Amino acid sequence: MLTGKHILLGITGGIAAYKTANLASMLVKLHADVHVIMTKNAQKIISPVVFEALTGNKVVDDVFDRDSGYPVAHIAMAHEADVVMIAPASANMIAKLANGIADDMLSTTMLAVTAPVYVVPAMNTYMLEHAATQANIEKIRSYGYHVVEPASGYLACGDTGKGKMPEADVLLEYILYAAAYEKDLSGKKVLITAGPTKEPLDPVRFLTNHSTGKMGYALANNAVRRGAQVVLVTGPVRLPLPLYAQVIQVTTAQEMYEAVDAHYDEQDIVVMSAAVADYRPKYTSEEKIKKKDGAAVLELERTKDILGSMSERKGGRFLCGFSMETEHMLENSKAKLERKNLDMIVANSLRMEGAGFGTDTNIITIITKDQVRELPKMSKDEAAKEVFDQILTFLH
Ligand SMILES: Cc1cc2nc3c(=O)[nH]c(=O)nc-3n(C[C@H](O)[C@H](O)[C@H](O)COP(=O)(O)O)c2cc1C
Repeated sequence: MLTGKHILLGITGGIAAYKTANLASMLVKLHADVHVIMTKNAQKIISPVVFEALTGNKVVDDVFDRDSGYPVAHIAMAHEADVVMIAPASANMIAKLANGIADDMLSTTMLAVTAPVYVVPAMNTYMLEHAATQANIEKIRSYGYHVVEPASGYLACGDTGKGKMPEADVLLEYILYAAAYEKDLSGKKVLITAGPTKEPLDPVRFLTNHSTGKMGYALANNAVRRGAQVVLVTGPVRLPLPLYAQVIQVTTAQEMYEAVDAHYDEQDIVVMSAAVADYRPKYTSEEKIKKKDGAAVLELERTKDILGSMSERKGGRFLCGFSMETEHMLENSKAKLERKNLDMIVANSLRMEGAGFGTDTNIITIITKDQVRELPKMSKDEAAKEVFDQILTFLH
């Protein structure tokens, strides 16, 4: 995803510096060329050897280092970066950035950077809330730096509050947004449904399915990274929320229908990947569950067909459904495409290993009115990219 991209990581003397090793590793796995500048104080917290081993590149920490590999390192490193992230950014470094101070390798390089910059403040709550730090954060925002909101929780100093550095997977998402794709969906409004629905039987029990939302969230992340304005309507799942998307969390099929219905008209592209319950209990309290020969009998009724109802008012928008079949995958999916007047169906078989619920991979077949494309096993991120690549061929 990041092949050919130069990512510059700046690391300062915050205790969260150890988490940046994880981020560097994730970036390298996505084939980025990762370069690291550390402050001298950062090296008291974590050894540069960690980053040199992970990235294969020398950590630079001195403007006058004659072995940096560059003739004028601070200018060269600034120019070759496609995106820069300072994580953690100490209060001290933020103050230097705010005031144009260039007294070490990182702060000097930053003055020459023209690529997008993400600054990730991480510090004790009182340091963060200090008027000087807040003013400095405002100031660097006004220079065009993106400031990543610190998380709240237990801090290394023992206090609890705001100031934690977000986890590496969250930080990675900002870098992917900045550098992974052309913004070929920019200006497009995309609605995606994801995850399962849960239909309550009573206050304790419910009917649901095995969907984990991974495919739908991969679709939402892909659309966001490609510049779309995304609404994600999601059933209950345990996944980090996509950046910059409007997320609507729902539980039941009826709630999902209402959320889709409310946002449908303004969309250009709608991709329904949620595994919506076909049936729900007719009654939701135990007394109303019928007893037959002493045993409880559950009466079910059909839930609203969200895809079917939306296709009735399809208009000019691109409508894509998902189908998950246990048998006759192609025939059933093609029939669904016709019956529901869809532009595209993404079919996945529940019988294939590496496809379907819960896995990080999928084996999809993209079916349109005059084409069937069977794709090999790939990550759900890659499958999401294939889906939007295919959709884009219809929009041009
Ligand atoms: C154990 C330890 C943890 C620290 N953690 C932080 C931190 O999370 N955030 C911060 O702004 N400063 C933190 N500091 C203070 C900075 O290291 C100090 O302000 C230093 O001057 C920052 O230098 P630098 O910006 O050049 O890296 C910490 C200091 C120590 C000793």
